[in-house]
Amino acid sequence: MTALLEIEDLHAGYGDHEILRGVGLRVDEGEIVTIIGPNGAGKSTLLKTLAGLIRPTAGSISFRGRTLAGARPDAVIRLGLCYVPQEANVFGALSVEENLAMGGWVASGAREARVREVLELFPALAGRRRQRAGSLSGGERQMLALGMALMVEPALLLLDEPSAGLAPALQRLIFDRVREINARGIGIVLVEQNARESLRLCRRGYVLAMGRTQAEGPGTALLEDADIRRLYLGG
Ligand SMILES: Nc1ncnc2c1ncn2[C@@H]1O[C@H](COP(=O)(O)OP(=O)(O)O)[C@@H](O)[C@H]1O
Ligand SMILES: [Mg+2]
Repeated sequence: MTALLEIEDLHAGYGDHEILRGVGLRVDEGEIVTIIGPNGAGKSTLLKTLAGLIRPTAGSISFRGRTLAGARPDAVIRLGLCYVPQEANVFGALSVEENLAMGGWVASGAREARVREVLELFPALAGRRRQRAGSLSGGERQMLALGMALMVEPALLLLDEPSAGLAPALQRLIFDRVREINARGIGIVLVEQNARESLRLCRRGYVLAMGRTQAEGPGTALLEDADIRRLYLGG
């Protein structure tokens, strides 16, 4: 297996407040990798660092064989790594269609075909092409944020809690779509509060706590591990 993304001993934080204190992680071509861990563990900080929004202070990030640490966010996107933040992930004043066009700025040509693909994946958005994103429901907004990321034709998506705040049926829909996006060959790093469901979805998972990788393994193995169940899965 070729590594799509490989992170070694990554350190990063805010100002002189170090949050990540030695994170290691690997994503192979076409894999779903789940990251779970308590609130404040540094999961969002890790994704922001991978996206180029925070500059690491030490360690290495390699994506498709290139060094990413210190690269600017637009350069990271052009290499095919696309980050979907948990919040503020769509332009509220723009329509659904305009948001998708913003997502597509980086890829050349065939934009309409990609818009069609996104609307096939998320039919709920198809009837709302001209509606302002700010007036969408929480579930529709998440679908649009995923759609914008797909417009980039990414090799790897970083998803920060895509199911947060959604009703169970919508959570299932988002998880199903994540599976479907992955089946198209796109690698996924999934950070989730819904730890059990996301560990079922992934091939491999990591537990991040106190800014460090505490455990890793196949999702099924982590789900069965007595310590992980007690500490991170509520028994
Ligand atoms: N913009 C910021 N400035 C300073 N500290 C922050 C900022 N964002 C997050 N933190 C701190 O970094 C730590 C990790 O946060 P975060 O990465 O959001 O954790 P998680 O996503 O695992 O809940 C927390 O202690 C949080 O208070
Ligand atoms: Mg977070």
